[in-house]
Amino acid sequence: MTWSKIAGTGGYLPERIMSNKELEKMLDTSDEWIRERSGIKRRHIAAENETTADMAVAASRKAIEAAGIENSDIDLIIVATSTPDKIFPGTACIVQRHLEIENSPAFDVNAACSGFLYALDIADRFIRTGGARNALVIGSETYSRILDWTDRSTCVLFGDGAGAVVLSAAEEPGILSTHIHANGKYEDLLHVPAGISSGYDAVRSEAAFIQMKGNEVFRKAVGTLGSIARETLSANNIEKKDIAWLIPHQANLRIIVATAKKFDIPMEHVVVTVDEHANTSSASIPLALDVAVRDGRIKRGELLLFEAFGAGFTWGSALVRY
Ligand code: COA
Repeated sequence: MTWSKIAGTGGYLPERIMSNKELEKMLDTSDEWIRERSGIKRRHIAAENETTADMAVAASRKAIEAAGIENSDIDLIIVATSTPDKIFPGTACIVQRHLEIENSPAFDVNAACSGFLYALDIADRFIRTGGARNALVIGSETYSRILDWTDRSTCVLFGDGAGAVVLSAAEEPGILSTHIHANGKYEDLLHVPAGISSGYDAVRSEAAFIQMKGNEVFRKAVGTLGSIARETLSANNIEKKDIAWLIPHQANLRIIVATAKKFDIPMEHVVVTVDEHANTSSASIPLALDVAVRDGRIKRGELLLFEAFGAGFTWGSALVRY
């Protein structure tokens, strides 16, 4: 039987850091409010000419190096993003060109903040059924481009960045299970109204920016993340105490703390990057994973629980033996 395992991780954050203090000068907000309500201290913002694909490529190079393989060994590329470089081709094809990889399938997945877990789910299925041996699974976002920088209720919460993993075929399980869900009836609580087949001419009006009913999203996120964690553990017949690290989507420290508490996972076993990165949407889980792998917290053989919640609503989880 073939399984898939995480062979290497990589991350990339734009050079420019925007602190809460800087936001104080632009908006009627305060460092204190942002820290208290979200746990965020600063975020990285892409340079003017820096794109989602550029960041994805930078993170991918590190993941490929960490996996100890060559670019030419990659035979599947999936980019999770809701901020693609172009309408088409897919950002994954642009990444493929930069990495000088040829012929592999390359496509994007848009499941907002849950995108990385959707992409991981798909790549795992490709590998387990023999369709790929080394998949590049990326989350990359430039949310700074879809923020209304005059709306204090949303713009303080997000940042830019990319995270990537190489998922390789293995004889022992790495990815133990993945669980992905959606419920489209919550569309209006968190969305960017303008799209291609609807509202395209509204681009650069307020319809082109994130709109969110933060309170309602918060409540739904906490409830849903608790239930997806239970679903994952019972599918694998394991107990909470077996989880070495919870790596949640990094939207808000209060959501992370509430989920960890509901689930009895002490905060020392939760990887938190929201303070430094803010919400980087589909990039947040692979970025947090990369940070904790590189600083030595996460070790080979440990059991990891990933979980995410995002617009759609979409939500998902993965249980991973690192
Ligand atoms: N600075 C100062 N005040 C702000 C502010 C800011 N940046 N943003 C909002 N406020 C104000 C509001 O206007 C409101 O004022 P009012 O009571 O006079 O109307 C007050 O703060 C409280 O707003 P509220 O929305 O109730 O705060 P909250 O405690 O729910 O926190 C969020 C707001 C957005 C941080 C929180 O709801 C949240 O994190 N929601 C989930 C968002 C999320 O994770 N989205 C992504 C999912 S993937």
